[in-house]
Amino acid sequence: MKVVVTREIPQNGLELLKKQFGEDLTIHPGDPMSDPELKAFVQGADAILCLLTDKITPEVLGSAGSNLKIVANMAVGLDNIDIKSATDKGVVITNTPGVLTEAVGEHALALLMSVARRIVESDKFMRTGKFKHWEPLMFLGPQLSGKTLGIVGLGRIGNYFAKICKTAFDMKIVYYDVQRNDAFENEFSAAYSNLDGVLKVSDFVSIHVPLLPSTHHLISEKELKIMKPTAILINTSRGPVIDEVALVKALKEKWIDGAGLDVFEFEPKLTEGLAELDNVILTPHTASATKEARNEMSRLAAQSIVDVIVNKKTPENIVNKDVQIK
Ligand code: GLV
Repeated sequence: MKVVVTREIPQNGLELLKKQFGEDLTIHPGDPMSDPELKAFVQGADAILCLLTDKITPEVLGSAGSNLKIVANMAVGLDNIDIKSATDKGVVITNTPGVLTEAVGEHALALLMSVARRIVESDKFMRTGKFKHWEPLMFLGPQLSGKTLGIVGLGRIGNYFAKICKTAFDMKIVYYDVQRNDAFENEFSAAYSNLDGVLKVSDFVSIHVPLLPSTHHLISEKELKIMKPTAILINTSRGPVIDEVALVKALKEKWIDGAGLDVFEFEPKLTEGLAELDNVILTPHTASATKEARNEMSRLAAQSIVDVIVNKKTPENIVNKDVQIK
């Protein structure tokens, strides 16, 4: 038996795995592995617990070999995994939905408030001794209360962020998703629209779609030009959903007022020009980084492995439901 974990993760999950698998558990310490390192590391594994920084390609799955039964991704997003190839090989894929909804929603709010009220710029201003006296026109930004929030992608996180903004700031909610949600519309008096319609009327736009071929560059030059010049764009989903070169241009030329980004098109690299702009706030893919969320993500991913390998049962968060448990 061989169970491998590609990085140090919070203790909850590791303890569960240590208890079940003891010496059969291998944890890779340190930074993310290169592709060849990952291929070597997973050889002969029955189970892999991986992170969104690990690209689980058909070749990595092949390198693991025929014992492989499950890949448990400690993330809700699954764009780092070739699910079709795993399904063809009869390998279960799981993710960790539900336990990071609040954390990511809170981070989207933190970004929105920080961009709106120019918190990072203000902090730099203070630290560099520039504060001489109170100014009636300094660091002005929009009030959040009563504004219109556009949600792009109404999954758990989009839904939760809308709830925060409706409850705390009485925002009007408009949303776009491939599916309409009547219950959501009724609960939050929310309006459904196509993407362009959402972008046109929203003061703040928050992106919550998964990265799929259909959502790659969903927000590009055309969409940024539709947005209000006073609008703020927040992205806590996946970087490539936004065309980052177009966004830099939009922020520089003030097609929109500002942006708060937790994810990047060429992560961990930043598109040229982005870091020089004052009207964008950047965080290093930490939207789910509450102690509570990361502990639960770790526990859920480990539990999925225990379910498949020890309990021989279908784990709660299986993604490819057609795969039979071996
Ligand atoms: C984080 O980005 C996740 O997908 O869990």
